[in-house]
Amino acid sequence: MITPVLLCGGSGTRLWPLSRKSYPKQFADIIGDESLFQASARRFRGTEFTDPLVVTNNDFRFIVTEQLDECDIEPVGILIEPEGRNTAPAAVAAALHLLRSDPEAMLVLVPSDHAVADPELFRASVLRGAVAAQEGQIVTFGILPERAETGYGWLESGPETHPGVHRLERFIEKPEQARADELFADKRYLWNAGVFLARAQTLVDAFREHAPDILDAVIPTLDDAVADLGFTRIDPEGWAKVREESIDYAVMEKVGNISAVRFDGKWSDLGSWEAVWRGSAQDDTGNALSENTTALHCENTLLRSESEEVELVGIGLKNVVAVAMRDAVMVADISEAQNVKMAVNTLKARG
Ligand code: GDD
Ligand code: MG
Repeated sequence: MITPVLLCGGSGTRLWPLSRKSYPKQFADIIGDESLFQASARRFRGTEFTDPLVVTNNDFRFIVTEQLDECDIEPVGILIEPEGRNTAPAAVAAALHLLRSDPEAMLVLVPSDHAVADPELFRASVLRGAVAAQEGQIVTFGILPERAETGYGWLESGPETHPGVHRLERFIEKPEQARADELFADKRYLWNAGVFLARAQTLVDAFREHAPDILDAVIPTLDDAVADLGFTRIDPEGWAKVREESIDYAVMEKVGNISAVRFDGKWSDLGSWEAVWRGSAQDDTGNALSENTTALHCENTLLRSESEEVELVGIGLKNVVAVAMRDAVMVADISEAQNVKMAVNTLKARG
């Protein structure tokens, strides 16, 4: 059995103003009528999977229980981080937590900001990787690249070791643009989907070798964790000392026992408005329009009104994203949409 570990503690500032610190993108209905978090939770159901373990932070605990309830999913646990420390501490805390009840536990780390068109196909890819994971590999999932993306990790596949499973020669997290251009031109590279399958013990061992400070700092925070109405609250004092790092930089770029299964279905990380625009239904001239919006002579736009009280009209726009909330409006060139993060920081600094 594999335990899906749903990571949903990110703040998703690149999708401001829809995504807020108090209600980040993974919990909003971005595409379709369920949230990305709910879609992620549903993606790993079936006889090979246990109920999920959720790792989130204190602010989101009730959104998590409410949204799982709506899908009739009862988690095996909800680990509460006092505050986000990025994915490395979250992942190792989940692995350690699972090992307490099952030394043989196998887990799949599932980000909650992805859209996957064919969940069954994804499940099948994960199960294909299980044999290698059982033998001590950390299994990643590779997506055929569509562009020289600097916001993703890149995988270089080596020889096939099991049917559909390749040893990785290299894992490169978020390359600079020039490097991304090279990787995109070189057909050996795939995008990293951000999903990782491994035995919990394999993951802990990888931290022991490559990020021992994170492991050693996280262990006591679980020893001192408090069970509270279905939540497991990680000890805040110890957690404050844990280094903030993503699992990709802390471990995946460094480990030798890492493999990849290619996933050929449609996948996207809805990490930016540009990605949401790519992933949305569009009219003949590339406009993705929500309710309460009108586009006249527009091309390649994303127009979104999140309030029935706000009508949004675009005229003669090209390559523009406009998102209107009741209390905030954001308009950007689509190619600059990643910079929303900078705008949010400026607003924060202003207080
Ligand atoms: N619990 C918890 N705590 N979850 C977190 C935290 C945290 O502190 N920080 C981020 N997450 C969750 C996010 O909500 C998201 O679902 C997932 O972990 C991944 O984090 P991102 O911050 O979205 O990562 P990324 O998109 O920049 O990069 C990763 O995913 C890419 C594909 O989408 C990497 O694995 C890349 O290599 C990969 O290409
Ligand atoms: Mg992401």
